[in-house]
Amino acid sequence: MAAHWEEFYATHLPPSDFEDNRSLLKEFCDRHNEPGRRIVLVTSGGTTIPLEHNTVRFVDNFSAGNRGAASAEYFLEHDYSVIFLYRSKSLEPFTRHFSGQKFMDMLELHNNGPNTSISVKPDSVDVLAPVLENYKTAQEGGKILYVTFTTLTDYFWLLRAACECLTIYGNRALLYLAAAVSDFYIPSNEIPTHKIQSSAGVPNIQLQLVPKMLAPLVSLWVPHAFVVSFKLETDENILIKKAREALNKYKHKLVIGNMLQTRRQRVVFVSQENSYELVLSREQMLNGLEIEDPIVDNVIASHDQFVSNTTS
Ligand code: PMT
Repeated sequence: MAAHWEEFYATHLPPSDFEDNRSLLKEFCDRHNEPGRRIVLVTSGGTTIPLEHNTVRFVDNFSAGNRGAASAEYFLEHDYSVIFLYRSKSLEPFTRHFSGQKFMDMLELHNNGPNTSISVKPDSVDVLAPVLENYKTAQEGGKILYVTFTTLTDYFWLLRAACECLTIYGNRALLYLAAAVSDFYIPSNEIPTHKIQSSAGVPNIQLQLVPKMLAPLVSLWVPHAFVVSFKLETDENILIKKAREALNKYKHKLVIGNMLQTRRQRVVFVSQENSYELVLSREQMLNGLEIEDPIVDNVIASHDQFVSNTTS
């Protein structure tokens, strides 16, 4: 009998641009696969569950994408090659610093007829220059690949394809699963083709449990990689318990727990050996330190240790 996760792939078609993305993933992984080189797959943003095939309404998972986008920048600083698998239109590395009106407010318009020009305001140069420099280094060096998903189905097809390409890296591959992946969905054969009509009365929507893809990912797709998953909770009392349960169930290396309300200043690292907290002080936050900076430092230290322990 097929496992629940196999059945999901058998009954949910890949997205229309899947083969193009698979080729990009393969080309990126092959090109960076030099001896000793490390690579990270960062997943980011929330998956959607469409209520109609021609989708007007959908159920969403909360995630702005800041955790993933910020972390990708810090992995690049540590010279990892980065696959950034993220929800379309969620935050991206580098541009996240200037989202909304911030970027426009940094510019000055010199209206001079045909010689009109635009410049960066002098007091914004210090903010823009370091981000632009890091962005250019990553782009010109081809160090980051951006791949987008929207639905849960897109995400699962791309996640498995990325894992297949990462197997050549063995223990040098790091998976940093920060995306907020839905636990509930409506199977494809149960959703209507067209927009649900209110004239038909109250819709009867029955969600089903999504298979946990961490199970085949850890045991079958990338069995030699260093896998880190995130756990989001809203009840402090169950955070560590749930993180430890995930670790025991999927047998991966590390779970990083966070509370919805405090995710920007506090996380808890849970591994088989121990658990400890990372907390930013008010002063550190005022000075612009982002928690993803020490999170990535700590994850890389654990990945280093793992590579030394598993390289013969
Ligand atoms: O993006 P921000 O606004 O900055 O917020 C960051 C964050 C709070 C979203 C992030 O830090 C975080 O906690 N992400 C994981 C949230 C989550 O969806 O947890 P979960 O309990 O649903 O899943 C736990 C792990 O199982 C995840 O790594 C997920 O990849 C995996 N999973 C989940 C569902 C599923 N069907 N299969 C899975 O493999």
